[in-house]
Amino acid sequence: MKTCVLTGITTSGTPHLGNYVGAIRPAVQASLAPNTEAFFFLADYHALIKCEDPNRIARSRIEIAATWLAAGLDPNHVFFYRQSDIPEIPELSWLLTCVTGKGLMNRAHANKASVDLNREKQIEDDDGITMGLFSYPVLMAADILMFNAHKVPVGRDQLQHIEMTRDIAQRFNHLFGAGRELFVLPEAMIQDDMAILPGLDGRKMSKSYNNTVPLFEGGEKALRTAVAKIVTDSKGPGEPKDADNSNLLPIFRAFATPRDVQSYKQALTQGMGWGDAKKALCTQLETVLAPMRGRYADLMAHPDDLEDILIKGALRARERAAPFMAELRDAVGLRSFKSELPTQKKAVSIKQKTPRFVSYRDTDQQFRFRLLDQDGAELFASLPHTDPKQAGVVMRTLQQGAQVVTVEVESDHQFVVRVDKQQIGKSVVFDTTTQRDEVLHKTQTAIMTISQLGS
Ligand code: TRP
Repeated sequence: MKTCVLTGITTSGTPHLGNYVGAIRPAVQASLAPNTEAFFFLADYHALIKCEDPNRIARSRIEIAATWLAAGLDPNHVFFYRQSDIPEIPELSWLLTCVTGKGLMNRAHANKASVDLNREKQIEDDDGITMGLFSYPVLMAADILMFNAHKVPVGRDQLQHIEMTRDIAQRFNHLFGAGRELFVLPEAMIQDDMAILPGLDGRKMSKSYNNTVPLFEGGEKALRTAVAKIVTDSKGPGEPKDADNSNLLPIFRAFATPRDVQSYKQALTQGMGWGDAKKALCTQLETVLAPMRGRYADLMAHPDDLEDILIKGALRARERAAPFMAELRDAVGLRSFKSELPTQKKAVSIKQKTPRFVSYRDTDQQFRFRLLDQDGAELFASLPHTDPKQAGVVMRTLQQGAQVVTVEVESDHQFVVRVDKQQIGKSVVFDTTTQRDEVLHKTQTAIMTISQLGS
């Protein structure tokens, strides 16, 4: 089985060098590791918690999407999507909310910090704390558990949220798993301190300290302007500098080979002036950033293409999320009345899992349904319908079994489902005919089972 690595990026700012070195670059590299499946998403619902400026939210989503793609993320290889394009995430968030202790949330750092601040100011504990902030960790748990991530790369400040996710998952498994592990318990992958860059003032580069060097925005000019503001000591040209304790070296090091670092250090020790050192730093940064910035500018100039990429990513992610959500709904008892068998005797048989339908609204706003086998794997998806009632009619036709349903080979890689010769759905595209035939056969059996249950 592949290891699933997942992380979210809150879309409330403009990416800076610290984000690149600490998060973006390691994540892009990690996504290339063999036997991993990577999920990267824009945590735009989380962004709403801290930011009430719609334009800033809108802008940041585009900038961050363009940044990750420019930095080398391959959207065909990884799952790259916006949290807000996956309706199953807030749906799961509610199921999790219902099993999360309020006491656990009281202890969350973000909430506690706000409460402490309010106490210091001698105002009410909960002043200014929204339910969004309070339940922030539950939404984050939904992000992670939706895709059953094994590893979650995050900064140290997020460790508590991963622990809470494990708590919540464990409780849900215990209550509703009926002996199965519905959710994987995720592990945090804490990003190394080495990856923390100093900002303009020497403190950790962070948007909250307002001491950042922009990654792409503003072009080379903005980069040079920011670098010029990096604090140095007052030694003049010709005087030997303490390279190791300068704020320039760690930034240089993050973008250069050890050999280049060596000569940079040597030049400083031999008295290179701070002005020249900053110029050399910019030149070095440009060798790495300029090509990426070109791609960034290109993406920013084509937001339509970005939109398409993200919608496609969301569709792929929902292919996972929708069937799993159907399983979870079933686990908590939100079941179709058709499969809900009210008598005691039949109640036993419901535990023997059966194939079932899940209906959903696709990102193209069309209504579709899927037939899943007893283990929740997809058998086929219906054609799109503009009216959800139409989709319902087709589903009921299948359940009633009154008409002739055929499952037929369409090509080497696909089969279609017809009702009275009319195509109503089709399978995914399979790699091999063997896979196609296996699922085709399962579909035939499932349609028979479904029609017997329904009638
Ligand atoms: N809270 C994270 C942060 O501020 C962002 C985030 C949201 C996230 N959902 C997530 C990170 C899920 C990892 C997994 O950095």
